[in-house]
Amino acid sequence: MPCCHYYMLQEGGDAAFTVNVSQLTFGPGAIAETGDRARELGLERVALFTDKRLAALPFVETVQRSLREAGVDYAVYADVEVEPTDASFQAAAQFAQDGRFDGFVSVGGGSVIDTCKAANLFATHPAELAAYVNAPIGEGRPVPGPLMPHIACPTTSGTGSETTGVAVFDFVAKKLKTGIASKHMIPTMALVDPDTAATLPATVLAASGFDALSHALECYTCRPHTMRPRAARPSVRPLYNGANPWSDLPAREALRLVGRYLVRAVADRADTEARGQMTYAATLAGMAFGNGGCHLPHGMSYAVAGLVRDFRAADYPQAHPMVPHGMAVILNAPSVYRFTANACPERHLDGAADLGADIRGATSADAGEIVARRIIEMMQATQFPHGLAAVGYREADAGALAEGAFPQKRLLDNSPRPATKEDLAELFRGAMRYW
Ligand SMILES: NC(=O)c1ccc[n+]([C@@H]2O[C@H](COP(=O)([O-])OP(=O)(O)OC[C@H]3O[C@@H](n4cnc5c(N)ncnc54)[C@H](O)[C@@H]3O)[C@@H](O)[C@H]2O)c1
Ligand SMILES: [Fe+2]
Repeated sequence: MPCCHYYMLQEGGDAAFTVNVSQLTFGPGAIAETGDRARELGLERVALFTDKRLAALPFVETVQRSLREAGVDYAVYADVEVEPTDASFQAAAQFAQDGRFDGFVSVGGGSVIDTCKAANLFATHPAELAAYVNAPIGEGRPVPGPLMPHIACPTTSGTGSETTGVAVFDFVAKKLKTGIASKHMIPTMALVDPDTAATLPATVLAASGFDALSHALECYTCRPHTMRPRAARPSVRPLYNGANPWSDLPAREALRLVGRYLVRAVADRADTEARGQMTYAATLAGMAFGNGGCHLPHGMSYAVAGLVRDFRAADYPQAHPMVPHGMAVILNAPSVYRFTANACPERHLDGAADLGADIRGATSADAGEIVARRIIEMMQATQFPHGLAAVGYREADAGALAEGAFPQKRLLDNSPRPATKEDLAELFRGAMRYW
């Protein structure tokens, strides 16, 4: 039941929206196109970004072989940190600056692709790290112009980073995650290969799959672009337009696919259909939120990740405590949708139905609970933590978490229902334990 009045122009709102995406190639074997694609872009020497675990898997060798066959020189950087930090972004930027590259290739999850985007940015337009970081955490200086070509090959299902202009990192000194966002950071090409999902461990698949779910549902329930204050000039319209009729399409298809395939894909490594469909869903969700935006679950996740005490997730590197991104996001989601549903109940019900909930006979007043229950059901079916308490938080942390989330203005402003700092604390309290 789409609500057409959602896009009625509000006083001072933006009547138009802009769509930015990478050129997308999807299909089994797509990553083997890297060499030919690099040659098509005129590249002679590329930096190939990956992480240590992936470097030992066959995909990276497939990409290297295709570069060799195409006569493209390359140097490998496998020191990407999983859930990158300011220090790891800077180390990667140094490698990019020293290597005299004319292009970039990334093979990995969001951690690798985001690090590659940042390295490309600082090699092309050198500056202090904080210069381009979102205000008010950083200076929020606009990226001055195009970067070098970047071919992104995602291997999780997933962040959608291969299609977005965002690079996220943990600002360790400030104890929060934040990012750099610009249309110039969108990879030139995305080579999305569903075969890469075969080796994904269950927890990584579940966390990255819930991230994709949340990208799609947050995007679909964002404040509409017609309510976002019009930018001073069209060329500085933000990447996150707010919900719009274009991003609604990939968002809803992503929700349908995640609702149908996530639980199957996590349960069975050999279910290539489910794993392949999750890969496609993640890219669709990336295209959606890369233009529409995310809101509270993501804004809150950056505090959940940044204030971690000693939690370590199965299947992730164990060197440091870490709440993986998708986990930090989805643990907030049921609590958030119970709060936001009354701002656009039809959209919350649509989202719940797309995810597979039975909405027959439901009224607007039921919307928040129905979507929350469907997400909780999927969390249980994938043996996910039962709430923030399961990753080490207590009710007494709600205030500190709200303080950490409150500066995420770019995301919070996109919420269909404004949230004060007190609201955020209440939302964190509501996310402590779901069952
Ligand atoms: N730029 C964006 O638009 C965007 C969006 C959402 C999240 N992010 C960021 O992306 C990061 C999370 O990325 P992610 O969830 O894709 O995971 P990830 O890149 O952090 O990878 C998680 C783990 O899975 C391993 N792995 C990846 N692919 C594998 C495969 N095919 N087989 C076996 N192991 C594999 C990695 O080596 C790593 O150990 C966070 O830093 C998050 O903030 C970025
Ligand atoms: Fe995300």
